[in-house]
Amino acid sequence: MATVTNKEKNPKQLPLLDKPEKVALLEPSFKDPAFAGNKNLPIHRWVPWIAGFSSEFVKGVLRQNLLHEGTVLDPFSGVGTTLVEAVLHGHKAIGFEINPYAKLACDTKLKAYLVDTKQFSQLIKNFESFYSSKVLSGYSPKSSMPSGFKTRGEFYSPDVLKKVLILQDFINSVADSGIKNVFRLAFASTMVQYSNYSYEPSLGQRISSGKSEILDFDIEKVVVKKLNEMLQDILWYREHLPEKKVEAKIYNKSFFGNSELKANAVDLIITSPPYLNNYHYNRNTRPQLYWLGCVQNTQDMKKLEEANFGKYWQTVRDGKDIKLDFALPNTDLEAKLDELKETRKDKGLYGGRGWTNYAAVYFNDCYKFCSIMKKILKPGGKAFVVIGNSILQGIFIPTDVYLGKIAEKTGLELTRIEVVRKARIGNSIINSEFRFGNGNGNGQHTLYEAIVEITKPKVSRKTC
Ligand SMILES: C[S@@+](CC[C@H](N)C(=O)[O-])C[C@H]1O[C@@H](n2cnc3c(N)ncnc32)[C@H](O)[C@@H]1O
Repeated sequence: MATVTNKEKNPKQLPLLDKPEKVALLEPSFKDPAFAGNKNLPIHRWVPWIAGFSSEFVKGVLRQNLLHEGTVLDPFSGVGTTLVEAVLHGHKAIGFEINPYAKLACDTKLKAYLVDTKQFSQLIKNFESFYSSKVLSGYSPKSSMPSGFKTRGEFYSPDVLKKVLILQDFINSVADSGIKNVFRLAFASTMVQYSNYSYEPSLGQRISSGKSEILDFDIEKVVVKKLNEMLQDILWYREHLPEKKVEAKIYNKSFFGNSELKANAVDLIITSPPYLNNYHYNRNTRPQLYWLGCVQNTQDMKKLEEANFGKYWQTVRDGKDIKLDFALPNTDLEAKLDELKETRKDKGLYGGRGWTNYAAVYFNDCYKFCSIMKKILKPGGKAFVVIGNSILQGIFIPTDVYLGKIAEKTGLELTRIEVVRKARIGNSIINSEFRFGNGNGNGQHTLYEAIVEITKPKVSRKTC
């Protein structure tokens, strides 16, 4: 067993924990949680998602920790990796997800076994002939671009736009709602590929990252390939589902507003909340959200930002000072936030103060998250939380360690923390100069991903 001391994990900083043995790095017992593993797997490959986790990881956790039929929860479901695996293993699945595009992905995947595959296959053929006849004729599409969707540069070049609108006309003509949703997802998951934008991993103009604009594109080829993969996956899904009624429910709302789950209702939680890296799930899915008709304007987008776990730096940086809602004795969390606040004061909004607000909101949400887990888990029930650490303005923030301590604070038990990936690729903000202060921070600390295993004690213990 390799053990990471506080000093190695956190050089030059205050001691992190009063009980360092709890952050021992165990021999790897989990599969790599990175989403990349899902890219070729039936159902999971439908929609890529940043910081989504691999189905192999979820399978491993389910098989080791839930030997009887039970209730599995993912409070931050993303595109539904946990939920799909839970039903494939015969469990009841419950999810919460604020992003309507991700929620659509979860719902469509979970209900895919209901799709009439003969009708779906016929509709793929109908789409091919509709598309080729309309592209070749002087057809004027009935659909139009969503009026509220504003971008700095042209999102689609004119020839591409016409083809996208032909696709929209076809999708709008599909009467069966289940099949229509599969078509909508096929479009939404490919739509950036033929636009003048790309994921780097944040969404930006192609020209800003040295790529040329897309003037024309064979949309039919990409969409039909996707639809045929989905058809095959639906057949696979039906074959692999256990012979029992599928019980799955995904709520398009914040987990913090959850009133659906009663006390002691959940056997196992497998989840990954947004990381403290300011990856903007909502802005990065603006094209899908607008084109799918899930949002109409900036107010709708704002509501999603407000509901997001930890909010965003952009949302909280210039308000009043935000404090922790709870005390975390015997840790350096508060001292760390004070240190961050004093960093780069001269940079105003872009200096440490704004990032301190962001971190404080994030840990306040960790506290809320743990308090709800404490209530809804069954005694003896477990939570596996995949979380990335963070570096703000060059200051190392071990979110995994703090989450474990916060869990203990709410009366849960920190079973262990396992660092599963040591070289996480940072997003564009993490690598940027303003994240590091003077740009020299790069290399001083590493970004990693950890699994925090938390247990609800069988006999309730006093909270500190
Ligand atoms: C790291 S991703 C989860 C990915 C997921 N494990 C998968 O494999 O697809 C975190 C998700 O939490 C969602 N989210 C953020 N705040 C939320 C909240 N308050 N309630 C529910 N979901 C939230 C985000 O939209 C995002 O999809």
